Amino acid sequence: MSALRTITEAELALHNSYTDLWVAIENKVYNLTEFQMEHPGGSDILVEVAGRDATDEFEDAAHSEDAYEMMNSYLVGVLEGQFKPKPKPTAAKSSGSSFSAKYFVYGGLAIGTAAIIAYLLMKQRNS
Ligand code: HEM
Repeated sequence: MSALRTITEAELALHNSYTDLWVAIENKVYNLTEFQMEHPGGSDILVEVAGRDATDEFEDAAHSEDAYEMMNSYLVGVLEGQFKPKPKPTAAKSSGSSFSAKYFVYGGLAIGTAAIIAYLLMKQRNS
């Protein structure tokens, strides 16, 4: 597999028409000029987002696994600059880890409190 070319937003913006149609999805750039005719969602919707980032629109359409596999055939490069993290998986991941971290802290506090109570009870009984 050849290395992916870096494409600037300015270069992407040049490919913004029906006859020359590139879009960026999750910072990867796809040439959909040929594919637009086969696209089950139609050509017009692709022309509307031509030459720019279409990640939100692509995700809104809830594409299937098949669609994700098909995308690779049209890949022309990687968008230069800020690599936006995938919003959904990142959010799920970070909230997941902070969730377990929270439990770790609460668990520690509960064990600590129980130990202190047990100590005080034993002390009271012995005196
Ligand atoms: C490489 C890019 C793309 C590929 C390979 C692709 C492929 C597909 C495929 C295979 C479907 C049929 C349903 C499915 O299997 O998910 C579909 C439906 C659809 N696509 Fe895309 N798509 C691409 C980009 C886009 C973009 C950028 C948009 C929005 C701007 C879009 C909007 C839609 C919509 C709205 C449907 C639903 C059509 C319907 O059910 O009536 N697609 N696409």
